[in-house]
Amino acid sequence: MQKRREVAAPSLTVDGGGLLFGETPLSPAMAPQARATARGIVEAYNIMGYNAVGVGRYDLAGGVDFLREMAAASKFSWLSANLVDRADRKPLFAAKLFKKAGGITVGITGLTGPGGPPSDRSLLLPWQEALPPVVAELKKKADFIVLLADLDRAQIDKIAAALPAVNLIIQAGGNAGDLAPVLSHQTLVCSTAKQGKSLGVLSLDWQGRPNWGQSPEELLLDRKRALDQIEWQLRRAPSSPELRQEKKRLAAEVATLEASDSRSSSFKNDFLAMETSLPDDLQVAAVVGDIRQQIQRLGKQASHRPVANPRPKEKEADYVGWQACGRCHLKETANWQRTRHAGSYRTLAAKQQQFNLNCLPCHVTGTEEETSAALALPEGMLAVGCEVCHGPGGEHVRRAGKVPLSRRPLVDTCLRCHTPEQDDHFDFTRDLKRAAHPEE
Ligand code: HEC
Ligand code: HEC
Ligand code: HEC
Ligand code: HEC
Repeated sequence: MQKRREVAAPSLTVDGGGLLFGETPLSPAMAPQARATARGIVEAYNIMGYNAVGVGRYDLAGGVDFLREMAAASKFSWLSANLVDRADRKPLFAAKLFKKAGGITVGITGLTGPGGPPSDRSLLLPWQEALPPVVAELKKKADFIVLLADLDRAQIDKIAAALPAVNLIIQAGGNAGDLAPVLSHQTLVCSTAKQGKSLGVLSLDWQGRPNWGQSPEELLLDRKRALDQIEWQLRRAPSSPELRQEKKRLAAEVATLEASDSRSSSFKNDFLAMETSLPDDLQVAAVVGDIRQQIQRLGKQASHRPVANPRPKEKEADYVGWQACGRCHLKETANWQRTRHAGSYRTLAAKQQQFNLNCLPCHVTGTEEETSAALALPEGMLAVGCEVCHGPGGEHVRRAGKVPLSRRPLVDTCLRCHTPEQDDHFDFTRDLKRAAHPEE
């Protein structure tokens, strides 16, 4: 987070949207913690000095009214040209924003994508209807127009073709990771990895025309290198007329480049990884700490309440917890206790996250379907236990081992938790050896 402040040139900080919630619908049990997290994200964006954020479809997961409440608490603008009130078809959030940066006026707008939670309050207009009038308004005052778009590439290309006045499109969500900016027609398109894993820094040298070219410094460097090469070749074959000709041409080009400040608009792009090693901005760290505590408190309260919709008893998977297995399988239990799976809940507790419903399901046993049940588990299930790999063991225990259990977990069992996000080096064969019953 510190990194943002190291960007010295006049800058704007924007986000394509989709920052508040995950992509899965909020269950009633998850909602309080998810809303607290969303509030914290808004606070952190305030501190980091964001200027504008697009309204992504998933930002609406807490409801339109909740997002409007968030917008009121934001020091930046939430933008959507196409999310309108069902009653009067007026935008529910700002449709446009003008911002001065480095002597030019930047006009910013946003588009919300389809597929968000259904709402009887709001209506999503197609961009073909909502965007052109907004862009026309922006064009009157802005030198440079930015669109924050929660849309797929096919739609973005169509917009770039239809509305050449849009100079830059920042794509939200849905992509695999950092994508270097590409030109679609006359429009630059970029995006960064999900979940704020990196910050895209796009440096623009805007010359008032969208004739995007290589940056003049880079071009000059490139031509100088070519010239050196020719001179080196000339030393070996001093009489070649082609080489002399080429040298003359390049020398002239270098001279022109050095003399003129080139007129083509240029861009340079970097992705700053928001590594965990980055020294945290103290204020942001304070917000994060505060939210963690709120989530702990909300989770703790919920853990004392009976689960809202307990599953019918007969469907409940029959888990008993690792201590029950330990009575008969001493050796395997002792082996398992040496693995990190055995300490997975303690790991959360050490971080004060053991009531966080976003973390619990992967750090305990047997709560795949009902996330909120993870808050009220018996002691024996507060670990990635035996039954995560061997399956629920109730019958097996009651019948003293006469009902067989699965001998060997399948790779899919592991991948539920060892997702690329949590563990991108997962290797089933190697890791099973490490995790199952490692002998000393
Ligand atoms: C319910 C979620 C869950 C499942 C299923 C799961 N793991 Fe894990 N695994 C974890 C967690 C959480 C940790 C980290 C525990 C800690 O350090 O506190 C972990 C840690 C590990 C580690 C130690 C980390 C390392 O790189 O040395 C290995 C190895 C491992 N798991 C292998 C497996 C294998 C193999 C499977 C499938 C047979 C599997 N896990 C299934 C959640 C799970
Ligand atoms: C999708 C499953 C999943 C979720 C959700 C999850 N974890 Fe984990 N966690 C894992 C796995 C798998 C590992 C082991 C990865 C490894 O070390 O190879 C792990 C390891 C860890 C570790 C120890 C390794 C380290 O990086 O130091 C900590 C701490 C941790 N998780 C905390 C959390 C917290 C806090 C949350 C919630 C915000 C969370 N986890 C949510 C699966 C998950
Ligand atoms: C990470 C997955 C994993 C966990 C967790 C795990 N096991 Fe295992 N277990 C295995 C694998 C893999 C084998 C070996 C199967 C093989 O080699 O055929 C095994 C073998 C066994 C066997 C021997 C079966 C035989 O073939 O003789 C027993 C008994 C057993 N586990 C019990 C337990 C108990 C009790 C726990 C908890 C204390 C536990 N396991 C936790 C994966 C796991
Ligand atoms: C009352 C004693 C007892 C308890 C408790 C018990 N087991 Fe077993 N388990 C056995 C017996 C007996 C066998 C069969 C051993 C054999 O046939 O070689 C067995 C076999 C197994 C096997 C090998 C595969 C199979 O079913 O033949 C696994 C894996 C296993 N147990 C896991 C567990 C797990 C996990 C738990 C806890 C949920 C557990 N056991 C609890 C007695 C027990």
